[in-house]
Amino acid sequence: MDNLNAIGLEKNQSEALVHELNKLLASYQVFYMNVRGFHWNIRGHQFFELHLKFEELYDDLILKVDELAERILTLGSTPLHSYADYLECSSIQPVKGAIDAKTTVESVLKAFQTLLIDQRSMLKQASEAGDEGTVAILGEYIKQQEKLVWMYSAYLA
Ligand SMILES: [Fe+2]
Repeated sequence: MDNLNAIGLEKNQSEALVHELNKLLASYQVFYMNVRGFHWNIRGHQFFELHLKFEELYDDLILKVDELAERILTLGSTPLHSYADYLECSSIQPVKGAIDAKTTVESVLKAFQTLLIDQRSMLKQASEAGDEGTVAILGEYIKQQEKLVWMYSAYLA
């Protein structure tokens, strides 16, 4: 049983997945700060709708940040918790100076695409490790974000 963690998952597989979950946590933290910046700095005719829409989005992202960090703890490890680590590990780069609807929404769409690719790969890894709890979290994120991609794309069309 030494090869199993407290919730009965194979330690090596779980630790490999935690490594990916920490990178995903970092991506969410950088994406969160980008969207927070869009909420503050957006200008133009779409100000009122996008100011609100970005608030709705960053509120959701910060809930996912907490859920991912607590999943990492549930798997017996420690979530990354410094900005330096987030910048080093994130798949999403910080965005500066975006103030118009097209640039900000395109940046959101690009970030969702990055998250979706990372999460699908991690879902496969979690499934192979028998980690149904993580599979459920990632499956829910993927479903929600695929729909958001449709809606943000429709907004730009
Ligand atoms: Fe605000």
